Amino acid sequence: MKYKRILLKLSGESLMGDKAFGIDNNRLAEYAKQIKEIYDSGVQVAIVIGGGNIFRGVQAEEGGMDRTHGDYMGMLATMINAMALQAGLESVGVHSRLQSAIEMKEISEPFVRRKAVRHLEKGRVVIFGAGTGNPYFTTDSAASLRAIEIEAEVILKGTRVDGVYTSDPEKDPAATKYDMISFDDVYGKGLKVMDMTAFTLCKENDLPIIVFDMDTPGNLKKVVEGEQVGTIVRN
Ligand code: GTP
Repeated sequence: MKYKRILLKLSGESLMGDKAFGIDNNRLAEYAKQIKEIYDSGVQVAIVIGGGNIFRGVQAEEGGMDRTHGDYMGMLATMINAMALQAGLESVGVHSRLQSAIEMKEISEPFVRRKAVRHLEKGRVVIFGAGTGNPYFTTDSAASLRAIEIEAEVILKGTRVDGVYTSDPEKDPAATKYDMISFDDVYGKGLKVMDMTAFTLCKENDLPIIVFDMDTPGNLKKVVEGEQVGTIVRN
């Protein structure tokens, strides 16, 4: 395996599978299986998951709700996904611990960096829920922050697209995929990998991001083995 400690960022929307809302059990099982593959080979795995399949902060704003209020609702949505993922991992024999950025002591440990690292060392997958615990931050920012804190070697951003393209492949048939691109080029060309807060955290802390298609079974293992899958963004 190329990497020993990774942070996997999963989008909430991906968990929907073909459904219009919520969690698709088949997709959940499929993700758990892919995570188990790398877990079984001894990779230390931390996970941040979004909540967009359940609730999005922007949706709240459109309805006239206060942005911060909506953001907190979004953080709670990530906890629902995190608990589903924990159950999915447990059912395939993967030990895990869930830590929340907002205290919910009946259902989750609080986020304690040193404890999270200890869990990883003991062979437990650590799921970080509730984003950063602050409004105005995305789960991508939570992923960058936690990855830096636990000294992960890389963020693996599992999405539905298979990498970073020269332009939107759904609109431009001539778009081509990058195997590798620098942070500066992503910025200079106006490409989108993560929001700017998350992106800047990664750049300034020299943390590479690999964008890859998590919905193709076996891809996660390939990425961790160092195979050319998706796009690597780095300094
Ligand atoms: P070590 O003792 O370091 O090996 O870690 P451990 O996680 O096995 O021990 P601990 O006794 O802390 O945790 C046992 C179980 O309780 C685990 O499933 C934890 O996730 C859970 N747990 C620990 N702290 C809390 C908490 O504050 N709230 C909740 N809800 N669960 C917790």
